[in-house]
Amino acid sequence: MEIVTNPYDLQTRASEWRCSGLRTALVPTMGYLHEGHLTLIDHGRKNADRLMVSLFVNPTQFGPGEDLDTYPRDAERDEALAREHGVDVLFTPTRDSMYAPDHATWVEVPSLAAGLCGVSRPTFFRGVATVVTKLLILAMPNIAMFGEKDYQQLTLIKRMVRDLMLPTEIVGMPIVREADGLALSSRNAYLTEAERAQAPQLYKGLAAAQDVVAGGERDIAAVRQYVESYYAKNLPLGELDYLEFVDPESLVPMTRADGPCRVAVALRLGKARLIDNLRIDPP
Ligand code: PAJ
Repeated sequence: MEIVTNPYDLQTRASEWRCSGLRTALVPTMGYLHEGHLTLIDHGRKNADRLMVSLFVNPTQFGPGEDLDTYPRDAERDEALAREHGVDVLFTPTRDSMYAPDHATWVEVPSLAAGLCGVSRPTFFRGVATVVTKLLILAMPNIAMFGEKDYQQLTLIKRMVRDLMLPTEIVGMPIVREADGLALSSRNAYLTEAERAQAPQLYKGLAAAQDVVAGGERDIAAVRQYVESYYAKNLPLGELDYLEFVDPESLVPMTRADGPCRVAVALRLGKARLIDNLRIDPP
Protein backbone atom coordinates (compact mmCIF):
# COMPACT_ATOMS: atom_id res chain seq x y z
CA MET A 1 0.00 0.00 0.00
CA GLU A 2 1.25 3.43 -0.91
CA ILE A 3 0.53 6.43 1.31
CA VAL A 4 0.09 9.60 -0.71
CA THR A 5 -0.15 13.02 0.92
CA ASN A 6 0.31 15.35 -2.05
CA PRO A 7 -2.97 15.81 -3.99
CA TYR A 8 -1.18 16.14 -7.33
CA ASP A 9 0.70 12.87 -6.76
CA LEU A 10 -2.68 11.19 -6.33
CA GLN A 11 -3.91 12.83 -9.53
CA THR A 12 -0.87 11.61 -11.48
CA ARG A 13 -1.12 8.05 -10.17
CA ALA A 14 -4.89 7.85 -10.68
CA SER A 15 -4.84 9.20 -14.21
CA GLU A 16 -2.05 6.77 -15.17
CA TRP A 17 -4.23 3.91 -13.97
CA ARG A 18 -7.38 5.11 -15.64
CA CYS A 19 -5.63 5.93 -18.93
CA SER A 20 -4.07 2.47 -19.03
CA GLY A 21 -7.54 0.93 -18.89
CA LEU A 22 -7.57 -0.14 -15.24
CA ARG A 23 -10.87 0.17 -13.40
CA THR A 24 -10.45 2.38 -10.35
CA ALA A 25 -12.43 2.93 -7.16
CA LEU A 26 -12.42 5.59 -4.43
CA VAL A 27 -13.82 5.50 -0.91
CA PRO A 28 -13.78 8.96 0.71
CA THR A 29 -13.67 8.90 4.53
CA MET A 30 -12.78 11.04 7.51
CA GLY A 31 -10.98 8.10 9.12
CA TYR A 32 -11.47 6.33 12.45
CA LEU A 33 -12.51 3.42 10.28
CA HIS A 34 -15.21 0.98 11.34
CA GLU A 35 -17.14 -1.87 9.73
CA GLY A 36 -19.35 0.66 7.85
CA HIS A 37 -16.32 2.14 6.08
CA LEU A 38 -14.84 -1.32 5.57
CA THR A 39 -17.88 -2.62 3.63
CA LEU A 40 -17.44 0.30 1.23
CA ILE A 41 -13.73 -0.51 0.95
CA ASP A 42 -14.38 -4.23 0.39
CA HIS A 43 -16.92 -3.41 -2.32
CA GLY A 44 -14.31 -1.27 -4.04
CA ARG A 45 -11.71 -4.04 -3.75
CA LYS A 46 -14.08 -6.54 -5.39
CA ASN A 47 -15.24 -4.23 -8.15
CA ALA A 48 -12.08 -2.46 -9.27
CA ASP A 49 -8.46 -3.16 -10.24
CA ARG A 50 -7.10 -0.29 -8.16
CA LEU A 51 -8.56 0.96 -4.90
CA MET A 52 -8.00 4.39 -3.36
CA VAL A 53 -9.19 5.44 0.09
CA SER A 54 -9.02 9.03 1.28
CA LEU A 55 -8.69 9.88 4.93
CA PHE A 56 -9.26 13.58 5.47
CA VAL A 57 -11.15 15.35 8.26
CA ASN A 58 -12.49 18.06 6.01
CA PRO A 59 -12.53 21.37 7.92
CA THR A 60 -15.06 23.10 5.64
CA GLN A 61 -17.90 20.75 6.57
CA PHE A 62 -17.65 21.57 10.28
CA GLY A 63 -19.53 24.61 11.57
CA PRO A 64 -18.41 26.92 14.36
CA GLY A 65 -18.64 25.10 17.71
CA GLU A 66 -18.74 21.67 16.03
CA ASP A 67 -16.26 18.87 16.73
CA LEU A 68 -13.52 19.50 14.13
CA ASP A 69 -10.73 19.56 16.72
CA THR A 70 -12.03 16.64 18.78
CA TYR A 71 -13.22 14.42 15.89
CA PRO A 72 -11.91 10.92 16.74
CA ARG A 73 -8.64 10.04 15.03
CA ASP A 74 -6.42 6.93 14.96
CA ALA A 75 -4.12 7.16 11.95
CA GLU A 76 -2.07 4.07 12.80
CA ARG A 77 -5.06 1.78 13.17
CA ASP A 78 -6.68 3.21 10.00
CA GLU A 79 -3.47 2.53 8.07
CA ALA A 80 -3.31 -1.07 9.33
CA LEU A 81 -6.97 -1.68 8.44
CA ALA A 82 -6.49 -0.19 4.98
CA ARG A 83 -3.53 -2.52 4.41
CA GLU A 84 -5.50 -5.54 5.62
CA HIS A 85 -8.34 -4.73 3.26
CA GLY A 86 -6.15 -4.48 0.18
CA VAL A 87 -6.14 -0.72 -0.38
CA ASP A 88 -3.65 0.34 -3.08
CA VAL A 89 -3.39 4.01 -2.17
CA LEU A 90 -4.25 5.67 1.12
CA PHE A 91 -4.62 9.40 0.49
CA THR A 92 -3.96 11.49 3.61
CA PRO A 93 -3.63 15.12 2.54
CA THR A 94 -3.00 18.03 4.89
CA ARG A 95 -5.57 20.78 5.29
CA ASP A 96 -3.28 23.29 3.63
CA SER A 97 -2.70 21.11 0.59
CA MET A 98 -6.46 20.76 0.00
CA TYR A 99 -7.38 24.41 0.72
CA ALA A 100 -5.20 27.31 -0.34
CA PRO A 101 -5.37 30.26 2.09
CA ASP A 102 -7.40 32.17 -0.51
CA HIS A 103 -9.61 29.21 -1.48
CA ALA A 104 -12.79 30.77 -2.87
CA THR A 105 -14.66 28.19 -4.94
CA TRP A 106 -17.62 26.24 -3.61
CA VAL A 107 -19.93 23.57 -4.96
CA GLU A 108 -23.51 23.85 -3.76
CA VAL A 109 -26.72 21.89 -4.29
CA PRO A 110 -29.12 24.16 -2.40
CA SER A 111 -32.37 22.29 -3.06
CA LEU A 112 -31.00 19.10 -1.46
CA ALA A 113 -28.93 20.84 1.24
CA ALA A 114 -31.61 23.03 2.81
CA GLY A 115 -33.73 20.48 4.72
CA LEU A 116 -32.98 17.68 7.21
CA CYS A 117 -29.37 18.09 8.46
CA GLY A 118 -29.04 21.38 6.54
CA VAL A 119 -31.34 23.15 9.01
CA SER A 120 -28.98 22.77 11.99
CA ARG A 121 -25.80 22.52 9.86
CA PRO A 122 -26.26 25.26 7.22
CA THR A 123 -22.74 25.09 5.73
CA PHE A 124 -22.18 21.34 6.08
CA PHE A 125 -23.24 20.21 2.60
CA ARG A 126 -21.36 23.00 0.87
CA GLY A 127 -18.21 21.67 2.57
CA VAL A 128 -19.05 18.06 1.66
CA ALA A 129 -19.92 18.84 -1.96
CA THR A 130 -16.77 20.89 -2.39
CA VAL A 131 -14.36 18.36 -0.90
CA VAL A 132 -15.99 15.41 -2.69
CA THR A 133 -15.72 17.28 -6.00
CA LYS A 134 -12.01 17.89 -5.33
CA LEU A 135 -11.48 14.23 -4.39
CA LEU A 136 -13.29 13.01 -7.50
CA ILE A 137 -11.27 15.32 -9.72
CA LEU A 138 -8.01 14.17 -8.12
CA ALA A 139 -8.77 10.44 -8.08
CA MET A 140 -10.97 10.36 -11.21
CA PRO A 141 -12.36 6.96 -10.16
CA ASN A 142 -14.69 4.80 -12.25
CA ILE A 143 -16.70 4.15 -9.09
CA ALA A 144 -16.96 5.79 -5.69
CA MET A 145 -18.77 4.29 -2.71
CA PHE A 146 -20.88 6.21 -0.17
CA GLY A 147 -23.04 4.86 2.66
CA GLU A 148 -26.80 5.20 2.98
CA LYS A 149 -26.09 6.02 6.62
CA ASP A 150 -25.65 9.60 5.41
CA TYR A 151 -28.63 9.44 3.10
CA GLN A 152 -28.91 13.17 2.40
CA GLN A 153 -25.19 13.29 1.62
CA LEU A 154 -25.47 10.32 -0.77
CA THR A 155 -28.50 11.81 -2.55
CA LEU A 156 -26.81 15.18 -2.91
CA ILE A 157 -23.55 13.68 -4.21
CA LYS A 158 -25.42 11.62 -6.82
CA ARG A 159 -27.19 14.75 -8.05
CA MET A 160 -23.98 16.81 -8.06
CA VAL A 161 -22.05 14.18 -10.02
CA ARG A 162 -24.85 13.93 -12.57
CA ASP A 163 -25.23 17.71 -12.89
CA LEU A 164 -21.46 18.35 -13.22
CA MET A 165 -21.03 15.33 -15.54
CA LEU A 166 -18.19 13.96 -13.45
CA PRO A 167 -17.00 10.64 -14.93
CA THR A 168 -17.69 8.54 -11.82
CA GLU A 169 -20.50 6.16 -10.92
CA ILE A 170 -21.71 6.79 -7.36
CA VAL A 171 -22.52 3.54 -5.57
CA GLY A 172 -24.77 3.72 -2.50
CA MET A 173 -24.15 1.01 0.14
CA PRO A 174 -26.57 -0.22 2.84
CA ILE A 175 -26.19 0.90 6.46
CA VAL A 176 -24.03 -1.36 8.63
CA ARG A 177 -25.48 -1.73 12.13
CA GLU A 178 -24.43 -3.16 15.48
CA ALA A 179 -26.29 -6.33 16.51
CA ASP A 180 -28.68 -4.16 18.56
CA GLY A 181 -29.55 -1.97 15.56
CA LEU A 182 -27.38 1.10 16.23
CA ALA A 183 -25.87 2.35 12.97
CA LEU A 184 -22.08 2.32 13.13
CA SER A 185 -20.57 5.79 13.31
CA SER A 186 -17.20 7.21 14.31
CA ARG A 187 -19.14 9.56 16.62
CA ASN A 188 -20.60 6.65 18.63
CA ALA A 189 -17.27 6.89 20.48
CA TYR A 190 -18.69 10.00 22.23
CA LEU A 191 -21.50 8.05 23.94
CA THR A 192 -21.42 7.31 27.68
CA GLU A 193 -22.51 3.88 28.85
CA ALA A 194 -26.03 5.08 29.71
CA GLU A 195 -26.39 6.87 26.37
CA ARG A 196 -25.07 3.86 24.47
CA ALA A 197 -27.70 1.70 26.18
CA GLN A 198 -30.50 3.94 24.84
CA ALA A 199 -28.98 4.63 21.41
CA PRO A 200 -30.42 1.53 19.63
CA GLN A 201 -33.92 2.95 20.25
CA LEU A 202 -33.20 5.47 17.49
CA TYR A 203 -33.38 2.72 14.88
CA LYS A 204 -36.19 0.91 16.69
CA GLY A 205 -38.31 4.08 16.40
CA LEU A 206 -37.77 4.09 12.62
CA ALA A 207 -38.63 0.40 12.42
CA ALA A 208 -41.80 1.22 14.40
CA ALA A 209 -42.70 3.83 11.75
CA GLN A 210 -42.30 1.13 9.11
CA ASP A 211 -44.61 -1.17 11.09
CA VAL A 212 -47.24 1.53 11.54
CA VAL A 213 -47.27 2.17 7.77
CA ALA A 214 -47.32 -1.59 7.07
CA GLY A 215 -50.34 -1.75 9.41
CA GLY A 216 -52.23 0.59 7.07
CA GLU A 217 -51.57 4.12 8.39
CA ARG A 218 -50.85 6.51 5.52
CA ASP A 219 -51.09 9.87 7.27
CA ILE A 220 -47.49 10.95 7.95
CA ALA A 221 -48.54 13.29 10.78
CA ALA A 222 -50.00 10.31 12.64
CA VAL A 223 -46.91 8.14 12.02
CA ARG A 224 -44.64 10.96 13.15
CA GLN A 225 -46.62 11.46 16.34
CA TYR A 226 -46.32 7.75 17.07
CA VAL A 227 -42.52 7.78 16.63
CA GLU A 228 -42.11 11.00 18.62
CA SER A 229 -43.90 9.48 21.60
CA TYR A 230 -41.86 6.29 21.14
CA TYR A 231 -38.67 8.35 21.48
CA ALA A 232 -40.03 10.35 24.43
CA LYS A 233 -40.68 7.08 26.24
CA ASN A 234 -37.70 4.93 25.15
CA LEU A 235 -34.97 7.48 24.51
CA PRO A 236 -35.43 10.04 27.31
CA LEU A 237 -31.73 11.06 27.27
CA GLY A 238 -32.05 12.14 23.64
CA GLU A 239 -33.18 15.46 22.23
CA LEU A 240 -34.82 15.19 18.83
CA ASP A 241 -33.32 17.45 16.17
CA TYR A 242 -35.61 16.35 13.31
CA LEU A 243 -37.79 13.45 12.24
CA GLU A 244 -38.83 13.73 8.60
CA PHE A 245 -40.55 11.55 6.02
CA VAL A 246 -39.20 12.54 2.62
CA ASP A 247 -39.33 11.57 -1.03
CA PRO A 248 -36.29 9.27 -1.54
CA GLU A 249 -34.91 11.32 -4.45
CA SER A 250 -36.05 14.92 -4.09
CA LEU A 251 -35.94 14.81 -0.25
CA VAL A 252 -39.15 16.87 -0.24
CA PRO A 253 -41.24 16.18 2.90
CA MET A 254 -44.25 13.93 2.29
CA THR A 255 -47.66 14.21 3.94
CA ARG A 256 -48.95 10.77 2.91
CA ALA A 257 -47.11 7.45 2.70
CA ASP A 258 -48.73 6.34 -0.54
CA GLY A 259 -45.43 5.40 -2.22
CA PRO A 260 -41.79 4.77 -1.26
CA CYS A 261 -40.58 7.14 1.41
CA ARG A 262 -37.43 7.64 3.47
CA VAL A 263 -37.77 8.37 7.15
CA ALA A 264 -34.74 10.25 8.46
CA VAL A 265 -33.91 11.24 12.01
CA ALA A 266 -31.27 13.23 13.88
CA LEU A 267 -31.04 13.28 17.64
CA ARG A 268 -28.65 14.75 20.16
CA LEU A 269 -27.50 12.25 22.73
CA GLY A 270 -25.00 13.76 25.15
CA LYS A 271 -21.99 14.93 23.14
CA ALA A 272 -23.05 12.98 20.04
CA ARG A 273 -25.49 13.91 17.32
CA LEU A 274 -26.75 10.64 15.87
CA ILE A 275 -28.44 10.27 12.48
CA ASP A 276 -30.24 7.31 10.98
CA ASN A 277 -32.75 6.58 8.23
CA LEU A 278 -34.86 3.79 6.80
CA ARG A 279 -36.71 3.12 3.58
CA ILE A 280 -40.45 2.72 3.97
CA ASP A 281 -42.35 0.84 1.27
CA PRO A 282 -46.08 0.85 1.85
CA PRO A 283 -47.42 -2.63 1.04
P1 PAJ B 1 -17.31 9.50 7.16
O1 PAJ B 1 -18.30 9.88 8.21
O2 PAJ B 1 -15.96 9.03 7.57
O3 PAJ B 1 -17.99 8.39 6.27
C1 PAJ B 1 -17.33 7.89 5.13
C2 PAJ B 1 -18.32 7.04 4.36
O4 PAJ B 1 -18.70 5.91 5.15
C3 PAJ B 1 -19.63 7.80 4.01
O5 PAJ B 1 -20.02 7.51 2.69
C4 PAJ B 1 -20.59 7.24 5.03
O6 PAJ B 1 -21.96 7.30 4.60
C5 PAJ B 1 -20.11 5.81 5.15
N1 PAJ B 1 -20.59 5.22 6.41
C6 PAJ B 1 -20.41 5.68 7.67
N2 PAJ B 1 -21.03 4.90 8.57
C7 PAJ B 1 -21.63 3.91 7.87
C8 PAJ B 1 -22.45 2.78 8.21
N3 PAJ B 1 -22.78 2.51 9.47
N4 PAJ B 1 -22.90 1.99 7.22
C9 PAJ B 1 -22.59 2.25 5.92
N5 PAJ B 1 -21.83 3.29 5.52
C10 PAJ B 1 -21.35 4.11 6.49
O7 PAJ B 1 -19.19 10.96 5.33
C11 PAJ B 1 -18.06 11.40 5.47
O8 PAJ B 1 -17.07 10.73 6.17
C12 PAJ B 1 -17.62 12.73 4.86
O9 PAJ B 1 -18.72 13.59 4.82
C13 PAJ B 1 -16.98 12.58 3.46
C14 PAJ B 1 -17.95 11.99 2.44
C15 PAJ B 1 -15.71 11.72 3.53
C16 PAJ B 1 -16.56 14.00 2.95
O10 PAJ B 1 -15.68 14.61 3.82
